Amino acid sequence: MTTTTIDMPTTPVLEASGVTMRFGGLTAVRSVDLTVGAGEIVGLIGPNGAGKTTFFNCLTGLYVPTEGQVRYKGTLLPPKPHLVTTAGVARTFQNIRLFANMTVLENVLVGRHTRTKEGLWSALLRGPGFKKAEAASHERAMELLEFVGLSHKADHVSRNLPYGEQRKLEIARALASDPGLLLLDEPTAGMNPQETRAAEELIFGIRDQGVAILVIEHDMRFIFNLCDRVACLVQGEKLIEGTAETVQGDERVIAAYLGTPFEGAPGAEELAEVEAAEAHSAEAHRDGTDSTTRPEGEAQ
Ligand SMILES: Nc1ncnc2c1ncn2[C@@H]1O[C@H](COP(=O)(O)OP(=O)(O)OP(=O)(O)O)[C@@H](O)[C@H]1O
Ligand SMILES: [Mg+2]
Repeated sequence: MTTTTIDMPTTPVLEASGVTMRFGGLTAVRSVDLTVGAGEIVGLIGPNGAGKTTFFNCLTGLYVPTEGQVRYKGTLLPPKPHLVTTAGVARTFQNIRLFANMTVLENVLVGRHTRTKEGLWSALLRGPGFKKAEAASHERAMELLEFVGLSHKADHVSRNLPYGEQRKLEIARALASDPGLLLLDEPTAGMNPQETRAAEELIFGIRDQGVAILVIEHDMRFIFNLCDRVACLVQGEKLIEGTAETVQGDERVIAAYLGTPFEGAPGAEELAEVEAAEAHSAEAHRDGTDSTTRPEGEAQ
């Protein structure tokens, strides 16, 4: 008997379509489409203020996008952070958000609570069901600490950890909710080159366990080593998306990072208008009121 395999189109793990976020008159994210497939690591880059974190906030229910939709494995995500976590999307934060006075282990246990079914009464009465669940959570949390390389610090108070280890702890806490998609907002910020290399390996390891990843970073070497695909946001709009090679070589991306506007860039028209107006007013100033102007070539 022969078996034939049919290539079924797989549903993306994450599918954001037309996501727009406005704050009053400011459009921080403008009609952004982005997908992350199973087994993929996708990078999100862009200069400061480009809208990367705002986009993450729209994906995770922290902000309700002004327009657009976000689907996780084909299902619309509810606009509430804890429901998004329960659905299977976990994240870390650009500004580390740990419980500073809790131990390392306790922080991971907090991340686990969306996956424990024991209710309030069970917890208060500390019955056998609760004790069993507690032991299982503890075991899983220690496994995760081992995985990120922090098991030897399980009893340390989180605020005493060096910065790089706090970032790793945030990742362990996010993984404790058993996500299918992990969103990392600048996971290597503040890390030294060795820690950054180790973070790269850690993220590959997470991907190998079947978790799809979307990662924001400013460290281009890190992004281009790690990602299967990279999207670049500039002033809230997706400028380009493609393989590391494509994005790396795109002159508009280089210009966006160096701050040089290019033809057709979002905001370039406004900038050209401002520059023209400034030139015009400088000219008027020279022709009219400025009596100190010297003829060209004369020594200053
Ligand atoms: N809650 C808010 N209210 C008003 N404006 C906001 C809010 N959050 C973000 N913004 C604005 O949206 C724009 C995008 O900010 P965002 O933090 O998403 O950028 P970013 O790409 O993450 O930048 P960075 O690389 O510096 O972290 C900025 O102009 C910022 O001031
Ligand atoms: Mg940000």
